[in-house]
Amino acid sequence: MLQGKKIILGITGSIAAYKAAFLLRLLVKEGAEVQVLMTSAGKEFITPVTLSALSGRPVLGDFFENRDGTWHSHVDLGLWADVMLIAPASANTLAKMAHGICDNLLLTTYLSAKCPVFIAPAMDLDMFAHPSTQKNIEILKSWGCQVIEPGTGVLASGLHGKGRMEEPEAIVQQLHTFFNSPDKKKSLTGKRIMITAGPTHEAIDPVRFIGNYSSGKMGFAIAEELALRGAMVDLIAGPVQMSINHPNVNRHNVVSASEMYQKACELFPLADGAIMAAAVSDFSPVKAASQKIKRTGDNLTIELKANPDIAKSMGEIKKKGQVLAGFALETENEEANARAKLKSKNLDFIVLNSLASPDAGFMVDTNRITIINRENKKIEFPLKSKKELASDILDYLELILVDSLNA
Ligand code: C5P
Repeated sequence: MLQGKKIILGITGSIAAYKAAFLLRLLVKEGAEVQVLMTSAGKEFITPVTLSALSGRPVLGDFFENRDGTWHSHVDLGLWADVMLIAPASANTLAKMAHGICDNLLLTTYLSAKCPVFIAPAMDLDMFAHPSTQKNIEILKSWGCQVIEPGTGVLASGLHGKGRMEEPEAIVQQLHTFFNSPDKKKSLTGKRIMITAGPTHEAIDPVRFIGNYSSGKMGFAIAEELALRGAMVDLIAGPVQMSINHPNVNRHNVVSASEMYQKACELFPLADGAIMAAAVSDFSPVKAASQKIKRTGDNLTIELKANPDIAKSMGEIKKKGQVLAGFALETENEEANARAKLKSKNLDFIVLNSLASPDAGFMVDTNRITIINRENKKIEFPLKSKKELASDILDYLELILVDSLNA
């Protein structure tokens, strides 16, 4: 699967360095040519002898290994590689990468690399959770680095938490995903797109909520397609049974409309565009009961208040160059209602979902959509899988993005 791929494997000082040997073995087994680069702290955890035996190449670490006037060119290495993978990436190396410090060969190679860079952090839970590490990861992501999220489990410190380097098999899987979508034009590289998906749940009491049948399938399909096209994706997901595994996707789980609203307010200003695919509850109980509501009579009245209209609020703060798209799910006067929403929410286009047939809309894998833009033009699409429609919607988003940048 990775036959002939040229991979730089950067290994830094973390106990997870031992896993790098397994990772290297898997990469070589799949036919990749791997050049190992180690920091000096990395060499304290695993010996270069093991790694050079596994890779069939000398392991590089210092600029001037031979002390004879020759030196290793980080520029050549950076140009040679199809991919640079830093696994494990310590908090120290992440911090240096995020701030342009290049006091070893691994870091200079990173700075001059022209290829995509994957980073698999590994550290103790508190180091990972520290705002400085999180900020550094955020910076690296914003530059297009693909961060392979660490897992949660027992750490070398004996503590339990998030910080374990992702398993070698899963890292290789992410490289497969990357290399196997070369036909995908990486047309959204450098763009950051926010997407809301799924339903929201509005608490009535500790065990009941107001919700809807949204499965999140359409929104997640778009998030995945965005990532495959190279965008950095902020996926704000309501409570859904969906998983997504792409290093470009930053998933933010929320439950209620007001949580979704707060996340969207935080992330939209950082984005080049947003797609509002969530089925947000329009109302929520004025006050959720603190205890389970008991059956006391034949009727129960729950007072509801309107939730924030997230799409509309984003439309109000939308800046020049940002693109905002929404969805409409109508049961009557479909097109007229969708057009009215497009206007009132200041959207650039709206995707009208049909509920007219059982193979479209909520929960199913297929959908029938019509895209309507500000000039009242509409494009109707036949029944297709949500994955295919995600691609159609993004083709359209790309056109609008280019237009809005030129406007
Ligand atoms: O007004 P309606 O709910 O039909 O509008 C649908 C569009 O607005 C969708 O894009 C949906 O994600 C968005 N929306 C929202 N916040 C709400 C209600 C809808 O973002 N409270």
